[in-house]
Amino acid sequence: MDAIELRGITKTFGRVTALHDLNLSVRAGELTALLGPNGAGKTTAISLMLGLAAPSSGQVSVLGGNPRRDDVRRRMGSMPQESALPAALTVREAVALFARFYPTPLPVEQALALADLTGVATRRAGTLSGGKSAAWPLRWPPWATPTCC
Ligand SMILES: Nc1ncnc2c1ncn2[C@@H]1O[C@H](COP(=O)(O)OP(=O)(O)OP(=O)(O)O)[C@@H](O)[C@H]1O
Ligand SMILES: [Mg+2]
Repeated sequence: MDAIELRGITKTFGRVTALHDLNLSVRAGELTALLGPNGAGKTTAISLMLGLAAPSSGQVSVLGGNPRRDDVRRRMGSMPQESALPAALTVREAVALFARFYPTPLPVEQALALADLTGVATRRAGTLSGGKSAAWPLRWPPWATPTCC
């Protein structure tokens, strides 16, 4: 079973065809980069893999199931380009809050240590420097302990 399988995917937005007959397979443990010019459909393809949108036609399978299903989503990790930090929470509080969205998260202290954030754990998220903010565990997949990749 491939970790990610896209079969004959077409995605349209009104008159715009963002993806046309896309086929893509990613095996467990494989590192894959999607490259292409602006508007090529990279973000659209990743949205489909994450179950954030449904294809207009074709089939998407992640870890053997439909990523629109909650039980499949809970086994996935993703790192968004941008993340809206809850500025009023401390770093530790925010990590603890988001960890509860997952059935088997990394322990909070371990996630903080891995992201080199232990020293700022009591700071409010909104006061972090750009660099520390970029190291935010919410943007970092391992803390959610995804099934693979
Ligand atoms: N929600 C939407 N509504 C309408 N059109 C959309 C929507 N999302 C994407 N598109 C269109 O689909 C096409 C593919 O967009 P997409 O964002 O997937 O490209 P991309 O490869 O990620 O581009 P970039 O490199 O600029 O990030 C573009 O023409 C875009 O305008
Ligand atoms: Mg994009």
